[in-house]
Amino acid sequence: MNTAPPTRCKSWADLAHHAESWRGAHLRDLFAADPARATQFAVEAPGLRYDYSRQRLGAMTLRLLSRLAAERGLPEWRDALLSGKPVNSTENRAAWHTALRAGEHAPSQVKETLERVKALSEKLRADRRYRRIVNLGTGGSDLGPRLLADALGDGALEVRFAANVDPRDLARALEGARPEETLFIVVSKTFTTQETMANAEAAKRWGAKAFHAVTSNTEAAKRFGAHEVLPMWDWVGGRFSVWSAVGLAAACAMGFGNFEQFLAGGRDIDRHFAEAPPEKNVPLLMALIGLWNTNFLGAATHAVLPYSNALRLLPAYLQQLEMESNGKRVDREGREVDYATAPVLWGAEGTVSQHSFHQLLHQGTQAVPCDFIDIRSDDILSANARAQADALAFGTQDRGLPAHKQYPGNRPSGVLFLERLDARNLGRLVALYEHKVFAQGVLWNINSFDQWGVELGKKLANKILSRR
Ligand code: F6P
Repeated sequence: MNTAPPTRCKSWADLAHHAESWRGAHLRDLFAADPARATQFAVEAPGLRYDYSRQRLGAMTLRLLSRLAAERGLPEWRDALLSGKPVNSTENRAAWHTALRAGEHAPSQVKETLERVKALSEKLRADRRYRRIVNLGTGGSDLGPRLLADALGDGALEVRFAANVDPRDLARALEGARPEETLFIVVSKTFTTQETMANAEAAKRWGAKAFHAVTSNTEAAKRFGAHEVLPMWDWVGGRFSVWSAVGLAAACAMGFGNFEQFLAGGRDIDRHFAEAPPEKNVPLLMALIGLWNTNFLGAATHAVLPYSNALRLLPAYLQQLEMESNGKRVDREGREVDYATAPVLWGAEGTVSQHSFHQLLHQGTQAVPCDFIDIRSDDILSANARAQADALAFGTQDRGLPAHKQYPGNRPSGVLFLERLDARNLGRLVALYEHKVFAQGVLWNINSFDQWGVELGKKLANKILSRR
């Protein structure tokens, strides 16, 4: 498997040279010169369409990027990922989250666990013995189920989340709840995470008696007093674990049928990622275009703008997914890299974001590549997403306007169109970004599946605490 620096690839040097020719090019002129651009630079995957015509690139850019993917050995790495090989080299583990949504092809332990999630969530939704479900977890043990519950919760059960060690977070999750009517799901792969353990102990002090756990540390969960302990496996990373029993709170909030649809959506994209040729492969294209923007056009950040209130938590979810995965400064051989890796990801739901930071997007000094997520079933939201992407790309040309009223345009963005926001499409969207992240890790020659950068702070906090 190729673990040489990407900068040694011929295509990397060619891309650097090619980028020179993009300095003066304006998106306005590209659209004027090629009326077919909007359809030519768009591809489809199950349930969605990716329009990248407003990115600052052309056919030659795509050819070179595709060559880079081949030189980096992307197909071999992809096969290794999808077949459960130990692609997480620093921990000698697989990153086999795709097995969690493999349906009838899933490993038997996955199927058994899903059956338990089904039984538990259906019972909890039907018998209403507990009026409140509280998920205690942080990072990957919180952001995924929280996103799903917020996007697609149907109100049949009151499901809340507490992630922060700040007691106010748990206090808010418990507002109006009674201990005998509240079930806690303690989600922690390690079952040692300070925040989650502190919140679980606080819940006991509050008087709670009912706890389930989702963890790979079964012994610790039993010692804690959890009634049902559902497994996590070391071949699934926290930020990729929403597809597992970590999704229990989400299944309670949206119903197991929807959770299954979410898994099916992920599976659709796994197939697409495995089978679509590079020029039609949406996650691969997103990865390559992101790299082009970062390494050759100099973008330092990347904004995700879902035009959907249901997706308001998506930027936070993707922050962990992208930045914990690819915020790395050494490559797979332990060498310090001399090229940029993951840009800072940020964003918020549109249209709210328009009345806040879009000023900078349109007229600030940095060009920030944006991903617009456009749900076609909503006319007003969809029109606004389209308007923003056009304004960023084309700007204004009226020389009569004073400088402060002019928009330079030529600011790149991509648009992901979904027909509607349902569980299957949400699964597709999340899996799309997962594979984008993996492909970028391969292109940058970094291990996307460890997170050693979070350890030092944890140790120091414990040391400081022990001195008090
Ligand atoms: O500190 C980072 C991290 O390890 C994440 O990678 C993980 O998702 C989160 O903490 C929670 O970890 P756990 O599930 O073990 O409590």
